[in-house]
Amino acid sequence: MAHSGVSASQLRDHSKALIFEIAEMRDAAEEGYSNDRCSINLPFDKKIAKEASLLAKRHKGVDALVVVGIGGSNLGTIAVQEAVLGKLHNQAGVGPKVFYSDTVDTYAMKDLLRILAGLRKAGKTVVVNGVSKSGGTTETTANFEILTEFLRKTDRRADEHIVVTSDEGSPFWKLAEKKGYHRLAIPKKVGGRYSVMSAVGQYPLRAIGVDVDQLLKGAADMRKACLGGDIGKNPAAQRAALLHHHYLHGKNIADMFYFCPDLESVGRWYRQLMGESIGKEWDLRHKMRVQCGMTPTVSIGSTDLHSMAQLYLGGPVDKFTTFVTLDGKRSAGAGGVSVPRDKEYEALVPHIQGRKLSELMDAIYQGISIAYSKNERPYCHVGLHGKDEYQIGALLQMHMMEMMYLGRLLGVNPFDQPNVEAYKVETKRILAGK
Ligand code: PA5
Repeated sequence: MAHSGVSASQLRDHSKALIFEIAEMRDAAEEGYSNDRCSINLPFDKKIAKEASLLAKRHKGVDALVVVGIGGSNLGTIAVQEAVLGKLHNQAGVGPKVFYSDTVDTYAMKDLLRILAGLRKAGKTVVVNGVSKSGGTTETTANFEILTEFLRKTDRRADEHIVVTSDEGSPFWKLAEKKGYHRLAIPKKVGGRYSVMSAVGQYPLRAIGVDVDQLLKGAADMRKACLGGDIGKNPAAQRAALLHHHYLHGKNIADMFYFCPDLESVGRWYRQLMGESIGKEWDLRHKMRVQCGMTPTVSIGSTDLHSMAQLYLGGPVDKFTTFVTLDGKRSAGAGGVSVPRDKEYEALVPHIQGRKLSELMDAIYQGISIAYSKNERPYCHVGLHGKDEYQIGALLQMHMMEMMYLGRLLGVNPFDQPNVEAYKVETKRILAGK
């Protein structure tokens, strides 16, 4: 705990305010989908799992999946896919390829259409999954229209290969109904950034071969731990208390530092989760202008030590860092690659010949954590036993509950995003020429 910069008694003080939130969270665990915190019930929802898995089975054997969605509607899927299957999944040639279409960008869309045209020409099957909770997001609608038009022109069975995930009754849902596309519903009170365990993440992840049942199991087990009343054993409450303490003491940057490049998108997902949940103009009752928030950043070990370490160790003490590492010995496959034993390389860097890459990464992590301690830079450590579905499900669930607890401590609403809505309204007004 010494390196976290928070003493046990300070942690206890911050945690006191969480006793009520833990009680409310436990109530929410019994209330289905009627409570704002209801996303914590998704890992137990058999109906959602069955629907997503039936549709994924129907699409078994497809060659490519395009997920069209933005923000909470695709970040969770990308995070899990890259963590579990790896960033190089498409190049590795194992299982269906997966593409994401989020912002509106001519170059990205032209490239994607070129790739898809090549696949269709070669007789490969492509599925398009449009994901939008509101069913009225400009970027998603534009990209979905382009991609489904492409599919309808190149695939006689296109309608069979189009899936819409949205709020039941939304404009997107109604369109899908009219056109005869497959539909998957998102429970109304589950917000985008909390939706990865719903059909939003479940369908595409199942379709590309991720073991979603293990993902849900990891999340379910973590939910149990994060509902515990003893803060010392409740990882989400403990992290919220740490973040709260540091926020009050001038650390307004939360750096998520992953010692595994495949976890970078977990960091991008966390960025949205923290940014939208606690970055708030007004307090919970909308009475006081608080302009609260910590800026979440993502760093990759050891890559960013070669670009950012000077700032992190020598610059302003305005960050609270979370180091996330993998246990090299236990993580399947990751411990298996070693540096050859070529003596001629000894003169370049000694003591690495014949060593496993995971050993080198462990040494680098230990080095940086000692440097952080020596320079009095506060940090905490999350050690994963690997990056399989179970571990990632648990990690994401912990962070989602941590953000609900942190919102409570900061006195803001972690479930809305009024300022995001403001930009959407303005964009639509401009497009309407008003
Ligand atoms: O978390 C959120 O609510 C947002 O980031 C949304 O997910 C994002 O704006 C996309 O919205 P929608 O799913 O309605 O298309």
